[in-house]
Amino acid sequence: MSDAKTNDRMEKIVSLCKRRGFIFQSSEIYGGINGFWDYGPLGAELKRNVKDLWWNSMTRMREDVVGLEATIIMHPAIWKASGHVDTFTDPMCDCLLTKKRFRADQIEAQSGTAYHYSGAKDSASGKQNSEAYAVLLPPGKPPESARKTATQFYQDRGLQQVELLGERTEKVENSQKFNPENGSLLTEPRPFNLMFKTHYGPVESEDNVAYLRPETAQAIFVQFKNVLETSRVKVPFGIAQIGKAFRNEVTPRNFIFRSREFEQMELEFFIKPDEAVEAVAGSVSKATAGHPGEPQPNWGWETWHKYWVEERIKFYENIGLPRTTLEEYWQKPEELAHYARATVDLLFKFPFGTQELEGIAARSDYDLSQHERFSGKGMGVFDEDLRGAWAKVDVDKKAEMQKRFVAEKAKNLVERKKLPEAEANTQAEAQAKIFFENLAKGQYIPHVIEPSAGVDRLILALIANAYAEEDVPDEKGKIETRVVMRFHPRVAPIKVAVFPLLKNKPELVKKATEIRDLLRPHMNVFYDDAGAIGRRYRRQDEAGTPFGLTIDFDTLGETPELKDTVTLRDRDTMQQVRVKIDELLPMLLAKIR
Ligand code: GLY
Repeated sequence: MSDAKTNDRMEKIVSLCKRRGFIFQSSEIYGGINGFWDYGPLGAELKRNVKDLWWNSMTRMREDVVGLEATIIMHPAIWKASGHVDTFTDPMCDCLLTKKRFRADQIEAQSGTAYHYSGAKDSASGKQNSEAYAVLLPPGKPPESARKTATQFYQDRGLQQVELLGERTEKVENSQKFNPENGSLLTEPRPFNLMFKTHYGPVESEDNVAYLRPETAQAIFVQFKNVLETSRVKVPFGIAQIGKAFRNEVTPRNFIFRSREFEQMELEFFIKPDEAVEAVAGSVSKATAGHPGEPQPNWGWETWHKYWVEERIKFYENIGLPRTTLEEYWQKPEELAHYARATVDLLFKFPFGTQELEGIAARSDYDLSQHERFSGKGMGVFDEDLRGAWAKVDVDKKAEMQKRFVAEKAKNLVERKKLPEAEANTQAEAQAKIFFENLAKGQYIPHVIEPSAGVDRLILALIANAYAEEDVPDEKGKIETRVVMRFHPRVAPIKVAVFPLLKNKPELVKKATEIRDLLRPHMNVFYDDAGAIGRRYRRQDEAGTPFGLTIDFDTLGETPELKDTVTLRDRDTMQQVRVKIDELLPMLLAKIR
């Protein structure tokens, strides 16, 4: 798709979102606040439906997942243990002229001639500034334009009659060192921590710094033991959480795709280490193509990981994003986070490009181990069956498992932590000793598979996927463009609209409100009696309402055999059928569930 078309489609989507009350700019009457968005009446319903569907499919419909709702502000030590304080950063640089801030890795690469200056002199006062500066000019631009920008730079630093010093030029190819908007040199990239910082309690000091959580996952890890001890769950099991997270993005962009306040739906699914599976089940299954089916005792991390990738794709299909709209991206070994054994990104083809909707990471035992180390509280579990099974594993097999464990750990330490081979082996052997001693006692720290989805980007995917324009005849046969949001009925903000044919006929209104009240306890119903029926249908098409019911004179018995029937209009086909009022509720429930 060309850029113009892409922008056009995005603009139409953003405009519809505002016009119909899906999404508004936060604090709009004060000029808005960059990176924050509000959900209007239709957006709030859509979002609630999506979250409910995720929650139900992840927790209530499963035996092996329970829920959690933790606080946004947690003990700051959590973010030390998780690595966020030290490493949750983006490279950032500033324009030396305008101070505008950029994400260094997202700057559009440019080529041209760079005009360098060693400094400048104020020819009136003789004052000198020896700060080096440069301006990049694209091919064909006259040098004067670089000199003008550089003069401005030194004027901003207090010189009045600027005499530029030491001009030299340099050919530049694909450089990210200059501001694409004005050619000015940027500062060197420096790490910028994305966590929002605040203070708790009445004193603002370094002792009471707190962070708005940048992910919901950590709360799950730190409550792992409480959940395990209170919920009658046994590994393998998961803890699910939906909630707000905050990241102070350097450049929030693409509407609600990357915002500073957003919502996550995360599952941390705890599994046995493969060595424990092998001891208990005799062997560890290999992951095969497609869905591996119902969970089995011999599943190792690879099969569990594959299982969750497939389950998540199934979820998206169920809410109206067909597999063909998604792509699976298996991160390459060099792209993996240091704790991850494998990560699959599920990507969606947004109008602005194919981008991540959800990441499904196999996170080894990194998270719980880190919290054990930092908090001093044991995060391991005890498994009596494992203790019994381990005692029966023969000596050669134990030795072979130990060898494999050491080889994998050492490889990881060499590749990810860049340790020399000998040191990596020594560390891996020390880890193996502790790990296998614990295993013999039936103890281990669970490993984790984490499907982590962004609610807001999913809402944008659903909106982008639903948006359609088509030419259709109006009531008089004139062709008009209909905008229709083809949401799956499961996520549609309004499930059914109820229309009395005329609003000034009390019998029609009475019947219509009776039908509204019959359906309302079971689904979101919109009652609309304003304007011509065709216009009312179009309004609901734009809201994505899958069904419309019209109460007319036949409903009241004008044609006796049609008494107590209504017309049911399908949003997508625009076909209408007559349905008995008695049959409406079960029929609609079957379509929206
Ligand atoms: N917990 C993973 C993430 O927030 O992306």
